[in-house]
Amino acid sequence: MTDMKPGAGASKKKTVMSGIRPTGFLHLGNYFGAIRNYVKMQEEYDCFFMVADLHSLTTHPDTKELKTNVHRVLAENIACGLDPEKAALFCQSHVYEISELYLYLNMLAYTGELEKTVTFKDKIRQHPENVNAGLLTYPVLMAADILIHRAGYVPVGKDQEQHLEMARTYAKRFNHRYGEIFPEPEAFNFGENLLKIPSLDGGGKMSKSENQMATLYLADDDEMIRKKIMKAKTDAGPAELNSVKPDYIENIFQLMQLVSAQDVIEKFESDFNHCSIRYGNMKKQLAEDMVRFINPIRQKAADIMMDEKYLQEVMEKGAEKARVSSVATMKMVREASGLNYF
Ligand code: TYM
Repeated sequence: MTDMKPGAGASKKKTVMSGIRPTGFLHLGNYFGAIRNYVKMQEEYDCFFMVADLHSLTTHPDTKELKTNVHRVLAENIACGLDPEKAALFCQSHVYEISELYLYLNMLAYTGELEKTVTFKDKIRQHPENVNAGLLTYPVLMAADILIHRAGYVPVGKDQEQHLEMARTYAKRFNHRYGEIFPEPEAFNFGENLLKIPSLDGGGKMSKSENQMATLYLADDDEMIRKKIMKAKTDAGPAELNSVKPDYIENIFQLMQLVSAQDVIEKFESDFNHCSIRYGNMKKQLAEDMVRFINPIRQKAADIMMDEKYLQEVMEKGAEKARVSSVATMKMVREASGLNYF
């Protein structure tokens, strides 16, 4: 990555940016793929974490639930340990400069490459009745979210990898055409590969608005968590020593890695390898460890959700911080791209 001079008002710390769409309840994938990293990164970096409300309009044009969903994303992030005093926690639509940069970047994005984006192809398959231009240019808006803060690191799950590649492409194109303004942002997960938290039904990933019985939400109550885990797909167990695990069994072990103690995991690994595993017991153990993990987050988030005034203040303060960095970048962008004759 190119080492760039920091933008006006920025400190020497590397800048971090990420976002979450307010399209439903947050789940274990959002936590382990993204929020867990936010919480660690806020201690070391200049962080901008955003509720991507404009992005949500590409697939959720009905805005009746939007305010509650925005509040929930904020509350759940804070309940997971995000500190609005340390990181800027804000709403995308409150920072108009993002939309301005999106417009400039649209001239550097080619429709052919946008049409090939995996998420675009998925979305048009799911919603053939609503193939709007915002959906096509979704990665351009996401690039604007990141580049507006000239961020270097973007903590995200595996599903966002291609979008990050595109953000780097637009940064490079802009720099090449108009001069070096943007660092090339990297997808980030502390010392590891990007994560994809699998769903409980053996196929796909956990998701805010699809396969809800196979997704563990941070708002699920204890009984619901137990019910979902006990229903997870298993089989009669391996017939041969040291067998390869089928995907749906691998997924259960992967979930255990996230919340269970190492000796517990080792015991079930050994049972599997010796063909003595009892999946009913394994799922019961996983369910209890998951309840212990999710329960305090749920309770904290529910308390924070009640305090609308506090959430309003968080959003306002976050937007102020985000505007300072965005205004500085747009000044550089306008000058570099020759729109400085006013
Ligand atoms: P979204 O709202 O779908 O998801 C928010 C974050 O959670 C991660 N994630 C997962 N990680 C692992 N396993 C899963 N099953 C899983 N499901 C979701 C996502 O990778 C993401 O990090 N386009 C983005 C929002 C966005 C954004 C941005 C992200 C808008 N602007 C700028 C980074 C930077 C999205 O739809 O995330």
